[in-house]
Amino acid sequence: MICGTAAALRRVLQAGALALLLGTLIGNAHAQGDAKRGQYLAKVGGCVGCHTQEKDDAVPYAGGRALKTPFGTFYGPNITPHLQAGIGRWTEADFIRAMRHGERPDGANYFPAFPYPSFTRIADSDLRDLWAFLRTLPPSSQASQAHDLRFPFGWRFLVSIWKWLFFTPGPFTSDTQRTPEINRGAYVVQALGHCSECHTPRNFLGGPKRDRFLAGGKGPDGKRVPNLTPAKLKKLSDAELKDFLVSGTTPDGDVPAEAMGEVIRNTTSQLTPADLAAVMAFLRALPPLADEPR
Ligand code: HEC
Ligand code: HEC
Repeated sequence: MICGTAAALRRVLQAGALALLLGTLIGNAHAQGDAKRGQYLAKVGGCVGCHTQEKDDAVPYAGGRALKTPFGTFYGPNITPHLQAGIGRWTEADFIRAMRHGERPDGANYFPAFPYPSFTRIADSDLRDLWAFLRTLPPSSQASQAHDLRFPFGWRFLVSIWKWLFFTPGPFTSDTQRTPEINRGAYVVQALGHCSECHTPRNFLGGPKRDRFLAGGKGPDGKRVPNLTPAKLKKLSDAELKDFLVSGTTPDGDVPAEAMGEVIRNTTSQLTPADLAAVMAFLRALPPLADEPR
């Protein structure tokens, strides 16, 4: 009798252990990011632009792109999985920490020229997919270049103050007052698309003026960037806005400034029709704001 109970108990325990083991295996397989989705998300994030040299035979994501700002020139680093030159030794957790908190694996701060103030809004599952995609890139041994910044902006610890003032980490939360389409557009624009890094004016410390969200002003390169709120954007019909975002044609036949030309090439022209429609719906639903004074 006792023997029978013990055997039954053992069977139950074995079954339980097996279920647990399978659960962990399946759970892990499930938690692993989807590299194909990650490839699309990398386009939405425009990662290739800042992480690839501007020359025809440049290796994508191997770094070296110069980003001129009023604080000096930043160079996008090599983010291929090369063990020494790239981020091949990183774990997924290191990547999520960099994107969500703007911190290096050793705890030092990243400069916000890496648009983590926007990327922090990316959902966990999208971060895992991005990571899975980055792992599929061919490793490049091209060394990352040191930034060339004006005194004292090269001091990483000063970024702590900047972050304390202007950085709120945490994923995007949708607003139940808005339609799912507008929420999707808000997510694409604010998180991955990082449109606000150029289209929201900044104060003298380089902090975004939150009450002037997407109202235009000066971009990171010091050049003028237009107001995207309906106060200004209503001049463009839906068809014109779509044309601009897909093919870079303006109603008067002009070529857009290169900063936006790159965003159109790498990001907005690559969006799925649903994501493009969502971005447009979100821009149309923004509170109208007057232009930033010159
Ligand atoms: C506007 C330019 C820009 C864009 C767009 C951009 N990055 Fe970066 N990224 C940078 C810069 C600049 C740094 C270096 C920051 C520093 O040294 O403090 C960086 C650093 C990184 C790092 C840390 C690398 C290391 O060696 O420590 C990772 C990872 C990264 N970016 C991933 C991405 C991904 C993924 C995307 C797209 C979703 C992306 N970046 C888009 C500019 C950019
Ligand atoms: C690197 C800086 C930068 C980023 C990032 C950026 N833009 Fe732009 N954008 C510009 C500049 C500069 C122009 C002006 C182009 C011109 O008129 O020649 C512009 C123009 C535009 C226009 C045309 C506005 C008008 O009134 O003609 C739209 C729409 C637009 N951007 C949407 C976006 C969206 C959506 C995103 C995010 C996916 C984005 N931009 C990200 C710099 C940027």
